[in-house]
Amino acid sequence: MKILLVGSGGREHALALGLKADKKCSELHVAPGNPGIAEIATIHPLAITDNQAILSLAQSLGVELVVIGPEVPLVNGAADVLRAAGIATFGPSKAAAALEGSKDFAKGVMRDAGVPTAKSFTCTLQSEIESALDSFGAPYVVKDDGLAAGKGVVVTNDRSEALAHALSCGRVVIEEYLDGPEISLFGICDGRNVLAMEPAQDFKRAFDNNQGPNTGGMGAYSPLPWAPSDIVEETYEKVLAPVVAEMAARGTPFVGLLYAGLALTKNGLKVIEFNARFGDPETQVLIPRLVTPLADLLYKAATSDLDDTVLHWRDESAVTVVLASQGYPQSPIIGLPITPAESQESTIIFHAGTAERDGSLISSGGRVMSVTGIGNDLESARHRAYSQISTIDLEGSFYRSDIALVASLAQVEN
Ligand code: AMP
Ligand code: GLY
Repeated sequence: MKILLVGSGGREHALALGLKADKKCSELHVAPGNPGIAEIATIHPLAITDNQAILSLAQSLGVELVVIGPEVPLVNGAADVLRAAGIATFGPSKAAAALEGSKDFAKGVMRDAGVPTAKSFTCTLQSEIESALDSFGAPYVVKDDGLAAGKGVVVTNDRSEALAHALSCGRVVIEEYLDGPEISLFGICDGRNVLAMEPAQDFKRAFDNNQGPNTGGMGAYSPLPWAPSDIVEETYEKVLAPVVAEMAARGTPFVGLLYAGLALTKNGLKVIEFNARFGDPETQVLIPRLVTPLADLLYKAATSDLDDTVLHWRDESAVTVVLASQGYPQSPIIGLPITPAESQESTIIFHAGTAERDGSLISSGGRVMSVTGIGNDLESARHRAYSQISTIDLEGSFYRSDIALVASLAQVEN
């Protein structure tokens, strides 16, 4: 099977590795890709915001499956254009990607499907905004209704900051604060069936001890030894299956990856957000643990054929640490040389914001690379990830030193 994967981040590098490892994948094309991905696949230039360009590339390559990594082409309807041309596509339609593209839409689906989530109001007028803020009180949670490249959500105790953000958004969802650990749990969907993956935890803040600004994610680990043992079944029953059924009943079936961001509160599990694509960096810990061949899995999802598929996992732990450019996330300094590292045992180096200049590797984005360590437990996986990441040389770059630390200590104690 010839496959085209759209995207260029660490998530796509991990997906590319998984697809390539499946013997059913005869040719792997990635667009636009990055220099790390170029080592394992053929890369092509592509403007991912141009649906016709995605279709033309898929047709000229004669691929049998397109996998769309990032949210922007999904929300733009790239999957609709590909499917209309008869190409099997892993990624939701524009209508189904609204689960990520509009917070208000996602709330409506959850309400109709009976999925537990924070109480909320959708507002446009200042008077509505102020009364919503006051009805919930601090901490205030204010979410831009639309896609905002990770900048749409403000959680603050400062009412004036909450109000200012709400007024800057146009349409805004204001919701109840959810207290409790957050996890990410993904479902692979074929429009009718959904296969729940193992959970992962992401670290969103830039600095150790969850300090500093929110980022796209600074690290992740899986499995979660501290999480309730039935978390996968519970999320399937309360969240993934009802949402997939609701989307099908509305005539807009969800085909692709349904990302549930959950808070485990004292009143039970609640949805914080949905995304319509694999998470980054969670994918860099999940794909190395997944035994089920990925190309066949995503093809079956794209062709409504998951009835008899079960996911299998390696009984190993994976920890990913992200290397970020100086100044990330506000104003990353890019264009600096990266001294490549020798790959160490049981680690994988994923490229994200890297590029090539005159034959050498340079940084080209905020999140530059990530390193996944794999081991028998979180402690050994962490050790490997940190030992490898410390060998990558990029001036001013930084990474968190506490990814999976608390979970690995608790695992040792138990
Ligand atoms: P998002 O950009 O939607 O991933 O949200 C960013 C972060 O805001 C989440 O990972 C949470 O840490 C936080 N957040 C979002 N909604 C809530 C909520 N209702 N209660 C507490 N924290 C929240
Ligand atoms: N890791 C968070 C995200 O992919 O949105």
